[in-house]
Formats: sequence, structure tokens, C-alpha cells
Amino acid sequence: MAVKLGVNIDHVATVREARKTVEPEPIAAAVLAELGGADGITIHLRADRRHIKDRDLRLLRQVVKTRLNLEMAATEGMIKIALEVKPHQVTLVPEKPNEVTTEGGLDVEGNLEHIAQAVERLKRGGITVSIFVDPDPVQVKAAKEAGADFIEIHTGLYADATTEEERKAEYKKIVEAAQLAQNLGLRVNAGHGLNYRNVQPIASIPGIEELNIGHSIVARAVLVGMERAVREMKELLK
Ligand code: PXP
Repeated sequence: MAVKLGVNIDHVATVREARKTVEPEPIAAAVLAELGGADGITIHLRADRRHIKDRDLRLLRQVVKTRLNLEMAATEGMIKIALEVKPHQVTLVPEKPNEVTTEGGLDVEGNLEHIAQAVERLKRGGITVSIFVDPDPVQVKAAKEAGADFIEIHTGLYADATTEEERKAEYKKIVEAAQLAQNLGLRVNAGHGLNYRNVQPIASIPGIEELNIGHSIVARAVLVGMERAVREMKELLK
């Protein structure tokens, strides 16, 4: 069976926030992504609300017909919001205030008790829980201990590898982490930094169910849509 695609639409909200206005509308982007075949919609509600807002989360919960995956830090405030809005899935991620994007997996091993409590509360609320982890056996085992349903394996170092040797080494870690997770009874997703050139080897790893992809899809959407957008404006000027 083909691996599923979760489309991360955060960058649509980032463009909106560049002008603090109402367009582009992330809800519309989610609907179009679903029409294009997305199996799920992913958003990251950050503490600073720099792109996705609470209103986006609430509206998407009503509008998304596939599955809504909420990436969030395991903080008290975010857990309360998740339990109220009830997305289909929460993916716990680390969050630093000034990072450009999520920089790596969550240190589940180092925060086991706190993470396990968050997982338990979310699962009791009927939410499927995934934890974003590096392809590191210690973290994969800790995610199992914390009670997660899924892990999402961080593919960022594979995507950023600058030599073939480095890429192969990172790929091997991902393959092994996916295998270990399945042996432990965890379900497996993956994502970060995946694009039209590097995705296929990851999509072919046995047992990976879904890939979460954001930047490369939104970047391509801007370019493939540019010609039509300019043509439509030119028409108005005639
Ligand atoms: N998975 C997680 C946990 C993420 O934080 C992100 C970025 O928001 C993605 C996947 C998607 O990464 P990218 O935008 O590089 O495709």
C-alpha cells in the first residue's frame, strides 16, 4: 500500500501573517490539499502563534474531512487546547522560541515522566498520540515507554546531508529506527525536509505509514500557481 501524505499548511499561514491580513486562507489551502489527495492536514500551533492561530485550529477541526494532526509542545496550555478541540491526532514536538523550524526530535528519554503524563491525558481524551523523535533507538524505546501510538521519525538530517556517504548513514538510521519501532508495536510516520527529489527512498521504507510534508509542497504551490495568478491580474487591467 502506498504511504500516506499529510500536508503541513503552516507556511500558508506564514504568508498571511507577513501582512497580518486574511489571505491566503489556510482553511482554503486545506480544502484544496484534500482535493489534491492529501490523506491528512498537519498544523503546528506554536506558543508564539507566529503562523497558525487558535481560530485556524478550531475551523480546521470542523472543515478537514481527512484527519487533522496537531503538532504541539507538551505544555499545560497546549494540552488543554488539544483536549478541548480534539484533533484526530497530536504529534508532540520540541519547541524553542527563536527556531526557524523544529530543529530535531523530542528528548523523550530525558523527560519521560512529563511526556508519559501528557500522552496519557491526550489518549484519555480520545486523541491518537505521535511523538516526533530522532532516528535514535534510545528515543524510539522511550516513546514506547511513554505510551505513544505512533512515532514520527525526524528525516531532517537525511534531507540536509551534503554528501552521499552522510545521506546513506542517515538513511540507515531511519530504516533501523522504523524497524525497531514496529518490533516494539509502535506505528511509524516520518517527516521534515522531504521534497520532490529526496522523498522516494523514505516512502519505500517498509512499515512507514505516513509522511508529513510542508515546505516543499507550499514552495511548489507558489511557483506552479504564479503564472495563472499573474494572468488573472492582467485580465483585470485590460
Ligand atoms: N514533521 C514535523 C514534526 C515538523 O515539525 C515539520 C515542520 O513543521 C514537518 C514534519 C514538515 O517539515 P517540512 O516543512 O520541512 O516538510
